[in-house]
Amino acid sequence: MCGIVGYIGPKNSLPILLEGLRRLEYRGYDSAGVALIHDGKLEVHKKAGKVADLVASMKGTHASAQLGIGHTRWATHGEPNDVNAHPHWDCKHEIAIIHNGIIENYVALKIKLQKDGHTIRTVTDTEILVHLIEEMYKRSHDLFTAVRLALLEVEGAYGILVISTKEPDRIIAARKGSPLVIGIGDDESLVASDAAALVDHTRQVIYLEDGQVACLTADSVTIKTIHDQEIIKQVEEITFDLEQIEKGGYEHFMLKEIHEQPTSILNSMRGRLLLQEGTAKLGGLEPVMDKLLAAKRFIITACGTSWHAALAGKYMIEQLTGIPVEVDYASEFRYRNPVVQPGDVVFVISQSGETADTLAALREAQSKGATVLGIVNVVGSTIARATDAGVFIHAGPEIGVASTKAFTSQLSVLALISLLLARHRGMSKEQGITIARDLQSVPEKIEKVLTQIDQIKYIAEEFKHAQNFIYLGRGINFPTALEGALKLKEISYIHAEGYPAAEMKHGPIALIDENMPVVFIVPKDAIYDKVLSNIQEVRARKGRIIAIANEDDTEIGNLSDFVVRVPRTLSYFGPIVNSIPLQLLAYYMAVARGCNVDQPRNLAKSVTVE
Ligand code: AGP
Ligand code: GLU
Repeated sequence: MCGIVGYIGPKNSLPILLEGLRRLEYRGYDSAGVALIHDGKLEVHKKAGKVADLVASMKGTHASAQLGIGHTRWATHGEPNDVNAHPHWDCKHEIAIIHNGIIENYVALKIKLQKDGHTIRTVTDTEILVHLIEEMYKRSHDLFTAVRLALLEVEGAYGILVISTKEPDRIIAARKGSPLVIGIGDDESLVASDAAALVDHTRQVIYLEDGQVACLTADSVTIKTIHDQEIIKQVEEITFDLEQIEKGGYEHFMLKEIHEQPTSILNSMRGRLLLQEGTAKLGGLEPVMDKLLAAKRFIITACGTSWHAALAGKYMIEQLTGIPVEVDYASEFRYRNPVVQPGDVVFVISQSGETADTLAALREAQSKGATVLGIVNVVGSTIARATDAGVFIHAGPEIGVASTKAFTSQLSVLALISLLLARHRGMSKEQGITIARDLQSVPEKIEKVLTQIDQIKYIAEEFKHAQNFIYLGRGINFPTALEGALKLKEISYIHAEGYPAAEMKHGPIALIDENMPVVFIVPKDAIYDKVLSNIQEVRARKGRIIAIANEDDTEIGNLSDFVVRVPRTLSYFGPIVNSIPLQLLAYYMAVARGCNVDQPRNLAKSVTVE
């Protein structure tokens, strides 16, 4: 999910590659590398850390090559270290590849390639692809064809660049799920994962589409489908300025990341949701499945938004598997001398994988003999490395301080874990398939919610001067209410509380008057009527009601001042879909109040102190 840059032309490619990678630094990454071809040789430099670390490691090399590719990695398979960094190369050190995305079937391909005599040096999914291309090149003796044939064997998402000493005048590019844009220069061609890396050289671009493969030389671009049909693509003009490009044309990273959620959730389930079998496949948990199945209790501990995901996870796991789940703030867990029984399994949830309280809670649980599993976004992070096993959420870099896509990907991974365990504990295949299908439909449901922007903007304008908000939900939507309140607090600085809807009667109802906006998360589920009663109680005290309700709800409109419609989904996945309008409401309220949405005052993206 990170940065790609390629150059072929009369200039020295190295400075162009390095500057292009610097332009992509905002995307967040853990390692970087370049591959150059000159005098018939392939030269590769790669390093864990920042682009500056790569540059420092190359001091003294006077590499000068007219053909080169560069990469910044966001690790998904294999620690972020020098060896696993891209580019990767084939057995003969003639072909080099860089890749954004995930090769889902890399294990099966690896076994086959090793049987064919290939020496695989790393644990990454990407390296498998360059050996597959090497294999296809033996048959085709043409790099363009070899890449195309190799990709026909691949399942997963990719944006790749491939170069070879055998054909030192071209770059082969291909995409499926990870963006690539080609830059048309004067007697030079460039390609990058993001136009930000191209604008210094050209504004004439071709956007490669999924299923397309391109061959770039200094003075030509040939594009084919993966099935070998040549296609003519329109050259477009980049009109965005650099800052807009970095945010994908959105005003803030947070808004970009809210809109990325259909894709990020798809990535969190990629290769893991088995529709036909009605279950999930989580390789990261296979070494500990015996402990998971023998556990009498789970404890989930985290901080902030990740704690809200933990609380929603409790409802999912208990309702689907019958395993009791205890949820604890990591900052509390670490100091309260928690009762942890041998056989307990503790999950720690963390986007950054660096939160001090969560790391301390992890070590406390391990010191008491628990098996500790991670649900983490950043591969290679301290928490990810300290756990006994775990599942990466593959949300990609989350730049906005207020967590959005990481939260919903945490929830989708919790859903996968719940489904996997439920099927091991007696859930029927039919029920599993029903649940898997509903989970699979979540990304498209989010797309539908994202069409409600105008209604949400209108509500934000109406309430931008409010001093307080209350968010109310029942059952699994109680954590949804908590998360909605936190989003509003942290970026608009309006005080907001999340509460179980019925609990509002036991005190907070004293706060209700005509100046108090109350957000109700009120899906048509088993407790819908109970929430309607709570709405009536608020109306009786002149509270102003904003309802997050289902599309087919014909009653809610008469009871609410404002309604945002969301598609129905199984209750377990409600927090994922219902959180989207709450993220957008917080975002537009903060924008209306002129707040710094991406870096709110007093906050840090990762709280690495107590
Ligand atoms: C989320 O919007 C907040 N910025 C914050 O609560 C965050 O969730 C918390 O600090 C935990 O971070 P982590 O997931 O990286 O551990
Ligand atoms: N899956 C590849 C890896 O882990 C690519 C990651 C990326 O998109 O940067 O190396």
